[in-house]
Amino acid sequence: MDTRKEPAKILLVTGGSRGIGESIALNAAKRGIDVILTYNKNADRANAVANTIGNGGGKAVALHLDTSQTGSFDSFAEQVAQLLRSEWDRGNFDYLVNNAGIAQRALICETREEMFDELVDVNFKGVFFLTQKLMPMIVDGGQVINISSGLARFAFPGVAVYGALKAAVEALTRYFAKEYADRRIRVNTVAPGAIDTEFGGGKGNENHRRQIASMTALGRLGEADDVGGFVASLLSEDSRFVNAQRIEVGGGIMI
Ligand SMILES: NC(=O)c1ccc[n+]([C@@H]2O[C@H](COP(=O)([O-])OP(=O)(O)OC[C@H]3O[C@@H](n4cnc5c(N)ncnc54)[C@H](OP(=O)(O)O)[C@@H]3O)[C@@H](O)[C@H]2O)c1
Repeated sequence: MDTRKEPAKILLVTGGSRGIGESIALNAAKRGIDVILTYNKNADRANAVANTIGNGGGKAVALHLDTSQTGSFDSFAEQVAQLLRSEWDRGNFDYLVNNAGIAQRALICETREEMFDELVDVNFKGVFFLTQKLMPMIVDGGQVINISSGLARFAFPGVAVYGALKAAVEALTRYFAKEYADRRIRVNTVAPGAIDTEFGGGKGNENHRRQIASMTALGRLGEADDVGGFVASLLSEDSRFVNAQRIEVGGGIMI
């Protein structure tokens, strides 16, 4: 019997310091996947996530990355390459999850160009150029998952730019799947519904939360783990023929 253990797969998830990204990192680790997680402002929280994974017998490293700073992507990629060599004795990794994102609310008539550009930089431009930069380091047969939003499918006042950019990310998913098909890299979108995290200042008072729950077939807000668990499951071999898809994880919101 061949007793050699398969080397662990490696996931790089952006925005892994809290919320959905933290849950993706923890759920992937539970499935035996090693993790590189990035943070922007919350180094302590990111290191705590890495420590939790390490204490559970897994392996994780936290790196700084501001996904709005495309000029830093060359040095980030070099940092990832060095880390892969030193920690895993590898030159590539298996999965990329583009999770980092920001929310800014304004009606269309009140949206300033500065706010528009900030949203574009993190939620769309960063996703495009980071993925472009890291694609050569992803194994053939690997996977990219882009985190979108239910707001790409349905509309609420105040989130026009955010929702439109998430719709753009969903289109981009299909284009990446097309252009990297020769390397059998699967590229999918996971679109969370209303998830109870700190995103955009959180989900507000009890009344607002009840309202969201009443628009959701399963009758509640989502938890970060509802999304993190699903994303981790999509990384498994059981999903090997799922490609170029948008999957909403929202409990049936706005159906
Ligand atoms: N929560 C929801 O209801 C909901 C619904 C649909 C879609 N989503 C999407 O799900 C993803 C995660 O959301 P969440 O709810 O987990 O949000 P969250 O709790 O606010 O966490 C956001 C994460 O993104 C990171 N981040 C923010 N700005 C960044 C930047 N410029 N560069 C790099 N990283 C940055 C944060 O890092 P630091 O903490 O280190 O600053 C943090 O790890 C986002 O793409 C969001 O659009 C969320």
